[in-house]
Amino acid sequence: MSERVPTGVEGLDEMVSGGFPRGRVILVIGGPGSGKTILASQFLYKGISQHGENAVLVSLDEGKNHYYSEMNKFGWDFKKAEAEGKFLFLDATRLSRVAILKEKMLKEETSSLRGKQLQVDKLIEDLQAKIQQIDAKRVVLDTLAALFYRFMDPIERRTAGQDLIEALSDLGATTIVTTELNQLGLERNILEEEFLVHGVIMMQTLYSGGATTRALQVEKMRGAGVNTNLVPYTIDRNGIEIFPTMSLFRDR
Ligand SMILES: Nc1ncnc2c1ncn2[C@@H]1O[C@H](COP(=O)(O)OP(=O)(O)OP(=O)(O)O)[C@@H](O)[C@H]1O
Ligand SMILES: [Mg+2]
Repeated sequence: MSERVPTGVEGLDEMVSGGFPRGRVILVIGGPGSGKTILASQFLYKGISQHGENAVLVSLDEGKNHYYSEMNKFGWDFKKAEAEGKFLFLDATRLSRVAILKEKMLKEETSSLRGKQLQVDKLIEDLQAKIQQIDAKRVVLDTLAALFYRFMDPIERRTAGQDLIEALSDLGATTIVTTELNQLGLERNILEEEFLVHGVIMMQTLYSGGATTRALQVEKMRGAGVNTNLVPYTIDRNGIEIFPTMSLFRDR
């Protein structure tokens, strides 16, 4: 079995045979507010603080200062980690959907397929440079959904997704890519990127009788015996905690 990388998330390691497969790409899928950014950041921060593994975050959603102050609420001091040469923040918000709206009237470069591919290639190049700069072992890209706004055509989107995930696998770091799912539910369409990655984790909020429960499922993790039960998780000021023995839907 491949070497495992501790996830930093209480309860998750035991669901995936001790951690994520080293050097592989894990997709974290969830609705808005499900905790994707927190889970991914916890993986990075615990990696830095407990396992001596440097980290890079590629953020398409939010800028650095806002991110640092949000993460401080969990006691995760990314600013200090950056100052110590253990963390780098790659601001890719210019590629996100908001940026697209601004660019609309701008040039051909950003609207042509070639132009969009070049931007993704450039992003990978920038990321590779940052990984080398601090010898990073952990990477997060948050979120793929923001990038895919560029590729409305399904075939363009699939190609871009394949290229990006392949490129991330080649970088050699253990990587979480987050993405959004519009329609949450127990039955859902499989996203194309799920076939390309080595692991898939799904985070969702279930509503029942006026109460809500956060639930997580490891849908796949290559090279590992996994617990694929839908299990509850919580978010509090320490971050995310998963309760793997409290199955929501139990085998009889
Ligand atoms: N201290 C806390 N205690 C309880 N819940 C919290 C705390 N801090 C954040 N949350 C919850 O965490 C969620 C936000 O987490 P996060 O930003 O990781 O979600 P996300 O999936 O990345 O969302 P988005 O799609 O908006 O990027 C919200 O539902 C918020 O209520
Ligand atoms: Mg987020």
